[in-house]
Amino acid sequence: MIGVDAERYGDHVFSHGSAGEADRLLGLAKALDEGTFRRLATLRPRAEWRCLDIGAGLGTVSEWLAGRCPRGRTVAMDIDLRLLSGNGYDVVDRDVTLDEFPPGSFDLIHARWVFSHLPTRDTDLARVARWLAPGGWLVVEDFDQFPIESSRHPLYRKVSLAMCAAVARRFGTEGHWASGFPAPLRTLGLTDIGTETFVPSAGPTPMGRFWRLSAEQLAPDLRDHFGVTATELAEFVDLVESPTFDEPCLATVAAWGSLTTGPHDNGR
Ligand SMILES: C[S@@+](CC[C@H](N)C(=O)[O-])C[C@H]1O[C@@H](n2cnc3c(N)ncnc32)[C@H](O)[C@@H]1O
Repeated sequence: MIGVDAERYGDHVFSHGSAGEADRLLGLAKALDEGTFRRLATLRPRAEWRCLDIGAGLGTVSEWLAGRCPRGRTVAMDIDLRLLSGNGYDVVDRDVTLDEFPPGSFDLIHARWVFSHLPTRDTDLARVARWLAPGGWLVVEDFDQFPIESSRHPLYRKVSLAMCAAVARRFGTEGHWASGFPAPLRTLGLTDIGTETFVPSAGPTPMGRFWRLSAEQLAPDLRDHFGVTATELAEFVDLVESPTFDEPCLATVAAWGSLTTGPHDNGR
């Protein structure tokens, strides 16, 4: 549901100019990059591929793609370019809900933790799929809150679910979209579909750091709209990165599919 105060991701909360935002995204990248790189490697990227990383953030995935496709071109697209180095890849300031690339522009399109935040995610994904060249791959990785819903730690569950509700209220985020994968890719007629789920733990981990820094940015919303007291928030912030804490955090569900019509035609 789109909340009454819906706004674009990063307009206020999670702006790349916010204190701690680079650290927060670094926690996310450290938690997820290994799995993302492994999944992308199984698609056997070729040196001449044209790649697009949507909502590139810090650009860690863009940089990896640029390294694997040195004779092609890698484009990092984001609505905020301040944290992108452009090291080996091009950066473009574009909004995936509004802007276009010509049909058939890319051999590989990747997006991680972007579409769930977009109220128009399904139509955006359909537009993005048209940017694929014949034989190209679409790889979408997004988060899902189901592991938090089953946490046995009441305070962690309460504050974490309030965080999910706070981003839903602000941006129209859907915290259950990814557990429906790979249906959104099948609907687009993609083939050679695959899917994989990863659930990192909070605690003294990159994910714990990401989650604590996320809570700190959302603190006024948690207090004003979701009944989280200052004491509860302070307890949560201490808990979520503490050495003995290991509750599951948000899942990442990845799905990929190809515009190929024939089976397993990755020899292009
Ligand atoms: C949670 S961060 C994920 C960053 C990176 N993909 C990663 O997983 O490390 C979401 C990113 O998507 C970008 N973003 C949000 N809405 C966008 C839009 N409409 N068009 C393009 N990028 C967008 C944000 O600026 C931010 O960099």
